Amino acid sequence: MREFRIRLMKQLLQEKVRVLHNQKVGPAYFRMGLAFAELARITRPGQFVMVRVHDRPIPLLRRPFSVHRRLVKGNEILGFELLYKVVGKGTQAMSELKSGDVIDVLGPLGKGFSCPEGVCDVFLVAGGVGVASLYCLALYLAELNSVKSTVFLGGRSAADVLCQEEFQSMGATVRITTEDCSLGERGLVTSLVQKALEVDEKPDMIYACGPQAMLKAVSEIAGAHNVPCQISLESAMACGFGVCLGCAVEKAGNRGAYLHVCTDGPVFDCRDVLIDV
Ligand SMILES: Cc1cc2nc3c(=O)[nH]c(=O)nc-3n(C[C@H](O)[C@H](O)[C@H](O)COP(=O)(O)OP(=O)(O)OC[C@H]3O[C@@H](n4cnc5c(N)ncnc54)[C@H](O)[C@@H]3O)c2cc1C
Ligand code: FES
Repeated sequence: MREFRIRLMKQLLQEKVRVLHNQKVGPAYFRMGLAFAELARITRPGQFVMVRVHDRPIPLLRRPFSVHRRLVKGNEILGFELLYKVVGKGTQAMSELKSGDVIDVLGPLGKGFSCPEGVCDVFLVAGGVGVASLYCLALYLAELNSVKSTVFLGGRSAADVLCQEEFQSMGATVRITTEDCSLGERGLVTSLVQKALEVDEKPDMIYACGPQAMLKAVSEIAGAHNVPCQISLESAMACGFGVCLGCAVEKAGNRGAYLHVCTDGPVFDCRDVLIDV
């Protein structure tokens, strides 16, 4: 359904689109399919959309979500899917939507992950729902055929570990930690990454998305082992395209200088930003 449509700038689309499905996949996790094929076609791994659930005053502002995967039937792109966790008013309102409802979507926004020439062996490190954007990246890397992915999934408990089977079915090695030991090893996902690097598994690149503390730890570990690392930051955002300046993050090595997560990121070389925990 296309009630209205504005082309804001080159390759930035805004549309009211139909919800294809909104399926609960865990205690607080949902997968929402959106019928927006044109956006799915041009979005790159790590880019995001801003979603406005409805026209009521609360929640007033759009909310940012990574594109999780394209929805495809045969050769036809139907739209894309979000994988989200209910944490507050906006995501609660999203969780109440049904197939056939309409939602306002703006995107694709931001700069996604990059896979430089010569990168053949990567670690993907996800904390909780941070897996949403990394799964999109893994699908892209799998299409390249020449990249070996090892996936590290961390969560508080088994219910917070998402997409394990999807990664395995694309041939990736998956390693899991939970803080309560309900799945995989007990502990933090970063300790598994650290161990892997210590036993001399040295990837060409680490990609990470998750809570700030996890990203800070991954960045430090990558730095200590001299492995390039791209991190995707999930700061709170009001506009999503560089106007409100609410998503500023301090630039590394340049005190008082800032980058904006929505336009300079959300994916950064971990050496470029100072992560505030
Ligand atoms: C580029 C980007 C991509 C994102 N992708 C996803 C995704 O794929 N799936 C997903 O579930 N979430 C994702 N997020 C986070 C998501 O945008 C927030 O969870 C959402 O905006 C919360 O809205 P709310 O109205 O439900 O919560 P609010 O009512 O606004 O807040 C509820 C609680 O959640 C906390 N909170 C709000 N935003 C964040 C945040 N970004 N990080 C940590 N805590 C937060 C608040 O401090 C508050 O305690 C992404 C964020 C960014 C910036
Ligand atoms: S969210 Fe408004 S400038 Fe980044």
